[in-house]
Amino acid sequence: MDGRPIAIFDSGMGGLTVLHECLVTMPNEDFVYLGDTGRFPYGPRPLDEIRGFALEIGRFLERQGVKMVVVACNSATSAALADLQAELEVPVVGVIAPEAEAAVQATRNRRIGLLATEATVEAGRYASLIRSLDAGVSFFPLACPGLAELIESDTPYGAGTVDAVRAYARPLKQDDVDTVILGCTHYPLIRHVLERAFGRGVTLVFSAEETARKVAETLARKGLARTSEREGVCRFITTGEPEQFRLMGERFLQFPIVEVESVSLAGLGAPA
Ligand code: DGL
Repeated sequence: MDGRPIAIFDSGMGGLTVLHECLVTMPNEDFVYLGDTGRFPYGPRPLDEIRGFALEIGRFLERQGVKMVVVACNSATSAALADLQAELEVPVVGVIAPEAEAAVQATRNRRIGLLATEATVEAGRYASLIRSLDAGVSFFPLACPGLAELIESDTPYGAGTVDAVRAYARPLKQDDVDTVILGCTHYPLIRHVLERAFGRGVTLVFSAEETARKVAETLARKGLARTSEREGVCRFITTGEPEQFRLMGERFLQFPIVEVESVSLAGLGAPA
């Protein structure tokens, strides 16, 4: 039995899709969620810069006394998963491998599309993972600049988002994919918009549920699970504006968020 919390982080709201699945799978665990909204979005940034942010956050979370770090951001997983695993003492779980596996299992015509940030597409981790799982799959990656920003705007389900999603879906439909990986943790927050754009013939794959399963399995195998019967608690931290995070987070997570702590970028990097 290990009562320490599990840390989950993202550039903003997207990791809440992973937190949700973790709450469904592990209701007795405590969680610390950090949204780096002060530096959102990560997607257009160079991979080296994202790696620096992720390492800073990983070290900060470890200093909070967590038992595991979940990188609930595809851009940060692409840029920094290996570095985080090498540097941190606690286990680190990312979001890309579970999706790649699920997509290769789901496709029937062996044509898989990817919607993701510029950084994730540039890093190419999905391409190499899919190739290692089935070299016969045709893979169509597509960067979606601006989509995560639309999702964090005041009108995440507005006409701007619907138009952008339709424009990004068009080339993948022309490529005749039957499976599309939602390779950014923000995208499942507008799942209904995406489902309508692609229609019934296309399977949308996203990692939140698989990631939660992997977190639970890792805890069980390493003897780190919390066995208490009481319901877990969630702590929320942002590098941005706490009230804005609270309102947006409550709406996306459909969970009462009472308090959001603020950490400055200097505080994030400060040693214990
Ligand atoms: N949620 C983040 C991801 O999964 C990205 C959004 C962003 O910061 O650009 O890549």
